Amino acid sequence: MTHHQRLKTSIAILGCGDVGSTLAYTLILNPICSEVILVDPKTALLEAQVRDLNDATYRGNTGTKVRAGTHKDAGQADIVVITAGAKQKIGESRLSLLSRNLYILSSIFSSMSPINPDTILLLVANPVDILTYFAQRLSGLPASQVIGTGTTLDSGRLRGVLAQKTEVSPNSIDAYVLGEHGDSQFIAWSSILIGTAPLRLALPNGITPEFKEEIATHTRGAAAAIIAAKGCTAYGIGNMAASICKYILFDQRTVRPISFYQPELGCCLSMPAVLGRKGIIQSMPIVLDEEEQMELEKCARHLRGVIESAEK
Ligand code: LAC
Repeated sequence: MTHHQRLKTSIAILGCGDVGSTLAYTLILNPICSEVILVDPKTALLEAQVRDLNDATYRGNTGTKVRAGTHKDAGQADIVVITAGAKQKIGESRLSLLSRNLYILSSIFSSMSPINPDTILLLVANPVDILTYFAQRLSGLPASQVIGTGTTLDSGRLRGVLAQKTEVSPNSIDAYVLGEHGDSQFIAWSSILIGTAPLRLALPNGITPEFKEEIATHTRGAAAAIIAAKGCTAYGIGNMAASICKYILFDQRTVRPISFYQPELGCCLSMPAVLGRKGIIQSMPIVLDEEEQMELEKCARHLRGVIESAEK
């Protein structure tokens, strides 16, 4: 891709709180696109974030411009990232945000319409799998263009903790958390590779039940632990969302566990997929053992139940 082509790319971020502004900052520092459009009904906060972020562009290796926009402008961007919504309070689950954030989501889509038919929608707000499902229906875009950050971040956390245990760089570890970005998520243990070694060969005692429990609890509880002390998570998710934008705009064909519609399961949840300029380029098969397959089905039943209760 030439520099000139890259100069024309725009990413709209709906919601400029902790996550939206961290994402914007990451996009301009890399830089990943030529223009960031921020949208937020809190106009004083919006103006302040635009000015502060532009201050960061006046120096250094970036040509990215940041501006405030309307929902209509945002709907024409190459990628629309939705971070807008209520966030978890201490001890609150992601699912308890559903009714508030679904309401916000439907008003966003009425204001954005008509949306650019080629845009890629990236859901970040929680509960992300449920919001991804409804965003696809509300937008009318093909399912391959509507994705959620899903368990990309959980998988990063998993690679981080396995890196500590095995003393191998997280970049040399393949490990996936799949399913819900939430409590019903599961780890695809049987496919983990530490460098070239299956996980059981990379651990002195193999994969014990205690080890699985410790790692799964760490990964599942990571966000709540951070929220308890600082009130939000932002750097981790902001960086993951920026990386996903890069895979898409640069047509990188990177494989990540991403939330998207699973026709055979009737909901959106995270499974490995190839990400490129058109969103989901293809889903990537992963071999699950019997227990993992059962966890996947349990997770899908749970998410379908949440969708059905939201539809009432
Ligand atoms: C987290 C938020 C994005 O896991 O749910 O940090």
